[in-house]
Amino acid sequence: MHPLIHMIGITKQYTIGGSLIHALKGIDLTIQKGEFVSVWGPSGSGKTTLLNLIGAIDTPSSGQFLFNGTEIVSLSDNQKAELRNQSIGFIFQQFNLVPVLSALENVMLPLQIRGISHAEAKKTAAKRLDQVELSSFVTHRPDKLSGGQQQRVAIARALVTNPYLVIADEPTANLDSKTAMKIVSLMRDMNRKEKTTFIFSTHDQRLLDSVYRLIHLEDGLIREE
Ligand SMILES: Nc1ncnc2c1ncn2[C@@H]1O[C@H](COP(=O)(O)OP(=O)(O)O)[C@@H](O)[C@H]1O
Ligand SMILES: [Mg+2]
Repeated sequence: MHPLIHMIGITKQYTIGGSLIHALKGIDLTIQKGEFVSVWGPSGSGKTTLLNLIGAIDTPSSGQFLFNGTEIVSLSDNQKAELRNQSIGFIFQQFNLVPVLSALENVMLPLQIRGISHAEAKKTAAKRLDQVELSSFVTHRPDKLSGGQQQRVAIARALVTNPYLVIADEPTANLDSKTAMKIVSLMRDMNRKEKTTFIFSTHDQRLLDSVYRLIHLEDGLIREE
C-alpha cells in the first residue's frame, strides 16, 4: 500500500519585491494512512506552506511529492481540485463558516455541492453534529456560537464527506487553551474511530501530546521528529 503522503526534497520559494524567500528548504516526509500528525513550529517556520502543499492548494518549487501514489505535479488544476473535493477536508484558524447559514446548513453544504439530496444531506450532517456534541445547536448561526462550538461545526463539516485526510492549519489559534485541548482531543477521537488521517499545525507547545507523531518545523526544515 502507498503511503498517503510521500515527499522527498520538497522546497518552496516565494518571490516578493524581487527577493526570494525560502519557505521550505528540503522536506523529506512520509505519512501513512490513519496517522495523527502534528506540525509544530514558530510563526514563519513554514507550517502553512507545508500544509498547503500537502492539501494540493499550492505546488512545490522542487522535489518529489506523491499523494497516495500519484505524482502531484502531473495533475492538472482540475484534477487537483477533484482530489481536494474527494479526499481532503480542511479546517481553518478562522473557522470559515458561512455566517447566514445555521450550523446544520453549514455542515450540509459540502454534500449539497456534490448533488446529494436535501434529505440525505440533512441526515448525514445531523449525525456529524451529534458526534461533535452539538445536537442542541443545529439551528444556531455561527454568531450565536462560541469559538469552540464554531470550530466543532467546522470539524463536522470537514468530516461530512468522509475524506481520508483532514488538514487543520492552526485550528486552535483563536481559542483559549482549555477549549483548544478539547478540540485536539476531539480530532484525536475522530482519527481513532474513523481511521481518518489528521495533520494539524500549532505553535502552542501545550497542545502537544506524547501519544501522537510530532514534526518539529524550524526555518523551513524538519528539525526533529
Ligand atoms: N504567499 C507568500 N508570499 C511570500 N512569502 C510568503 C508567502 N507565504 C508565506 N511566505 C513566507 O514564507 C515563510 C513561511 O511562512 P508560513 O508557511 O506562513 O509559516 P507559518 O505558517 O509557520 O507561520 C515566511 O517567511 C513567510 O513570510
Ligand atoms: Mg501559518
